[in-house]
Amino acid sequence: MATPTSATRSTRSSTAPPPAASSTSATTWTRSRASRAPTGATSSTPEFVLPEIDSDHIVSLFEGNSNLFWAERLGREHLGGMNDLWVKQCGISHTGSFKDLGMTALVSQVNRLRRAPLSRPINGVGCASTGDTSAALSAYCAAAGIPAIVFLPADRISLQQLIQPIANGATVLSLDTDFDGCMRLIREVTAELPIYLANSLNSLRLEGQKTAAIEILQQFNWQVPDWVIIPGGNLGNIYAFYKGFEMCRALGLVDRVPRLVCAQAANANPLYRYYKSGWTDFQSLVAGTTFASAIQIGDPVSIDRAVVALKATDGIVEEATEEELMDATALADLTGMFACPHTGVALAALFKLRDQGIIGTNDRTVVVSTAHGLKFTQSKIDYHDKNIKDMLCQYANPPISVKPDFGSVMDVLQKKLNVLGS
Ligand SMILES: Cc1ncc(COP(=O)(O)O)c(C=O)c1O
Repeated sequence: MATPTSATRSTRSSTAPPPAASSTSATTWTRSRASRAPTGATSSTPEFVLPEIDSDHIVSLFEGNSNLFWAERLGREHLGGMNDLWVKQCGISHTGSFKDLGMTALVSQVNRLRRAPLSRPINGVGCASTGDTSAALSAYCAAAGIPAIVFLPADRISLQQLIQPIANGATVLSLDTDFDGCMRLIREVTAELPIYLANSLNSLRLEGQKTAAIEILQQFNWQVPDWVIIPGGNLGNIYAFYKGFEMCRALGLVDRVPRLVCAQAANANPLYRYYKSGWTDFQSLVAGTTFASAIQIGDPVSIDRAVVALKATDGIVEEATEEELMDATALADLTGMFACPHTGVALAALFKLRDQGIIGTNDRTVVVSTAHGLKFTQSKIDYHDKNIKDMLCQYANPPISVKPDFGSVMDVLQKKLNVLGS
């Protein structure tokens, strides 16, 4: 197995030499505070993302360059001996999700435009969000001193996500509708008011997000993985990955692109249904509740882009029930990760594709982790409490209540560790 650069692994075997540190990142287009010059001087990413941006206009919070985690134990013990399974940790980022990658590009461009003489000034930047976009927008705008306006579906995002835009000083509108309702409203409002729309139908976001694909190739020393599995909701990200991979192929950096898998929650699966119809019948739907709340979307704005990405990469769409995604998340955690439920959707899709023999034991496979697990702790608490209706929670690991005396503690530990009492 070739050893990726700037990747980590849970344990390192003697046959696998330590990965070399990567000095550049696909997303190191940030300004150094000291020099105000791009830190990734050898990186060509500014040209890839936003050509001709002046480094003084870049708004960056040192996003990108995320870890590629070798999911060695998960692959070996739970996926039939897979030995080349990786998790791209896009959620380990400033605001805890992959959205930072796109938001740096969008807010930089707005920053640049606001300093230029414009016939129609930009008074603020707005988005509808299932949580993570609003967090990223608010942080980048706060750093640049640009007003942010976020439309959120009331009671449908995690508390940790909600507090981010509030803390960063955004104008937060909590609306009694779902994400799709928020999206319709923000489109109407931005058509009337001088608010720049920051949702991923804005291609600047996707230009930034595509750098995760470039990073993966860079981390594998420009060897192309066989599969990349991405959880999908509004479906901008799957297209962004395709763009990044395809750009590297067109530039001659690699000779092929990986097969993409888009993973959806079964309760919010319009793309999956479209795929199953042989791409003949797209129906938007009212998304049902899912623990993967950031992909609870029934009318994805980037549906056509996603189809382009999947057709061009011989891609697959898979779905995961709530139990499948929560079990996959728990198993990943039990092997050293702390996955969010969206990553669980992607992992559950991997389990299914392995069972069906579509993804092989030796296939190099990357699962894209889109958010930090700490943003979604309530679902983990409920799972480990076995407090989810109609769910077995088979991998629950609840804390054990013990009397605070030596004998009681010893009894529990001897039983747990299978040690005979003396
Ligand atoms: C954590 C997380 N995962 C996945 C997605 C899905 O990305 P996209 O809407 O581009 O399909 C989102 C988007 O909101 C997200 O926040």
